[in-house]
Amino acid sequence: MSQLSSGERIHLVDKKGRQHALTLKASETYQFSGQTIAHDALIGRPDGTIVTLSGGKKMLALRPTLGEYVLKMPRGAQVLYPKDLALMPMWADIYPGARVFEAGTGSGALTMALLRAVGPRGLVVTYEIREDFARTALTNIDRYMGPVPNLVSLRKNAYEAIELLDDGVPFDRVVLDLPEPWQVVPNAVKVLRSGGIYLSFVPTVPQVLQTVEALERTTVFGMLQTFETLLRTWSVQGRSVRPDHRMVAHSGFITVARKVEPGLLSSTSAQEADDEGLHENASDQAGEERGQ
Ligand SMILES: C[S@@+](CC[C@H](N)C(=O)[O-])C[C@H]1O[C@@H](n2cnc3c(N)ncnc32)[C@H](O)[C@@H]1O
Repeated sequence: MSQLSSGERIHLVDKKGRQHALTLKASETYQFSGQTIAHDALIGRPDGTIVTLSGGKKMLALRPTLGEYVLKMPRGAQVLYPKDLALMPMWADIYPGARVFEAGTGSGALTMALLRAVGPRGLVVTYEIREDFARTALTNIDRYMGPVPNLVSLRKNAYEAIELLDDGVPFDRVVLDLPEPWQVVPNAVKVLRSGGIYLSFVPTVPQVLQTVEALERTTVFGMLQTFETLLRTWSVQGRSVRPDHRMVAHSGFITVARKVEPGLLSSTSAQEADDEGLHENASDQAGEERGQ
């Protein structure tokens, strides 16, 4: 449906690209910078339309993308940035139909990215220890995605245990964004299928160390990799083309591991393979540039 409708969360975008979120409701009025617009003047308009406020200010009325939505939605816990949300489903290899365990739910940003990736045939089970955060997350998810019957949201402590659902089927993926993922690792081993993937996100180096040590202790996780994402946007204005002055320089570190039969791979095999790959690519490229 391309028309904006009552009950929808939309964004109004000003000339500078700044986004302002509002939930459309018949008979209500939106105020911005001393100017107003009736929600009724927005309801029924096409997504992406220009609207005019009472003082003549023009804004774009848009249905937000998931990345835009998560930055403006109400939050209890700190949400993941879109740059990390984009990478995490790829590196955890979340596929349509996958069964994913997630903790903690937080504000629901990652949950939505996972739900999108598993699709209607997949399943996301998410643990959140705090009732208030879980409530905010569920409202955020419902507002953006509508009802999601394949989401199981539980008020549980992932450090204590992870339980399989009644069907006893193990998870294909475990994805964590909570302060002490190393406390979840021994529980993840029990519920993740062989060949399954573990991924966690933490903001600091000591947390990475503890996570990697916990993964290594289990002996069943191989192909460990830790990385961070740096996204640098550019300003392109006529002949002035340069990186923007500001960027999110740090958000956190992503650690990925594969549950495999122990014995063949060392925990650093993935890193070593990656280093070799990088060198091969670099020399291929150099060869091409020399016309070889
Ligand atoms: C950084 S937030 C997660 C944000 C979430 N990924 C998002 O994008 O909205 C971390 C969450 O983990 C929850 N948490 C902390 N310890 C937990 C535990 N032992 N079990 C389950 N959830 C936990 C916190 O209450 C918090 O909501």
